[in-house]
Amino acid sequence: MLPVNGSREALFAFAQTVIDPTHPARVVCPNPFYQIYEGAALLAGATPVYGKPDDWSGVQLVYACSPSNPSGNVMSLEEWRSLFELSERHGFVIASDECYSEIYFGEPPLGALEAAFKLNRRNHERLVVFSSLSKRSNAPGMRSGFVAGDAALLKNFLLYRTYHGSAMSLAVQQASVAAWSDEAHVRENRRLYAEKFKAVLPLVRHPLQAQMPQGGFYLWLRTPIDECDFARRLHAEYNVLVLPGSYLAREAGGINPGRHRVRIALVAPQAECVEAMGRMMQFARDL
Ligand SMILES: Cc1ncc(COP(=O)(O)O)c(C=O)c1O
Repeated sequence: MLPVNGSREALFAFAQTVIDPTHPARVVCPNPFYQIYEGAALLAGATPVYGKPDDWSGVQLVYACSPSNPSGNVMSLEEWRSLFELSERHGFVIASDECYSEIYFGEPPLGALEAAFKLNRRNHERLVVFSSLSKRSNAPGMRSGFVAGDAALLKNFLLYRTYHGSAMSLAVQQASVAAWSDEAHVRENRRLYAEKFKAVLPLVRHPLQAQMPQGGFYLWLRTPIDECDFARRLHAEYNVLVLPGSYLAREAGGINPGRHRVRIALVAPQAECVEAMGRMMQFARDL
């Protein structure tokens, strides 16, 4: 287990220590996905693959994200079992991004190490998880997270980190200990997100569509027009900022799963989120 300066730099740096670019290397990302996976793959000399491939040859690393950014979907034990079996068969490493693991609305999501344990895979071979204080403690500026898993992979990762010098400062370590040691603020944070979804989701009506996510703090909203036009006009005419879904996805098999979608982060206070959704509905009705 190693402290890292937030999970983003770790997700990126980890790929640089896992990928062997002397062989044709491919990195599988979910689709839609958090952009860092793609950049990490490209800068490590690998080719990104968007979504589950039919052919696993050359795959050296798979990023998983549960709960997912942007959809909020959570991976089941069966999905983990199938991914672990594929990793065994093809030898790839799994990087499990779990930074939304403590923002959930039903049962706590299953983490990859927990899934491995339940499936009697006790040595965490080829598996590393990434976690963060950013979402759990609402502290993205603090830059504090950790990675845990396969000891051999983390040994290489630690060596790499001694060269690019990303040790965590003592002050941040102390603040992190305090944040990881307290669950009350995390429960309160979850409660506030649940309340925001409860207030905002019923306001979403035709022609927009959205579902309650299993985890995370995003609405992955369907738009009746092109998502970039939607985001641009909503900003220009109603001063509300959303992210076009296609910025978080790539076309694969002729389909871009971010088309006609926008991602809305419910991080602002509840009244602001409600006001923004009201403006969005007004805009959508006038389309
Ligand atoms: C899926 C996902 N992973 C990782 C991160 C990085 O978070 P941090 O570097 O603050 O830990 C984010 C931030 O938005 C994210 O959405």
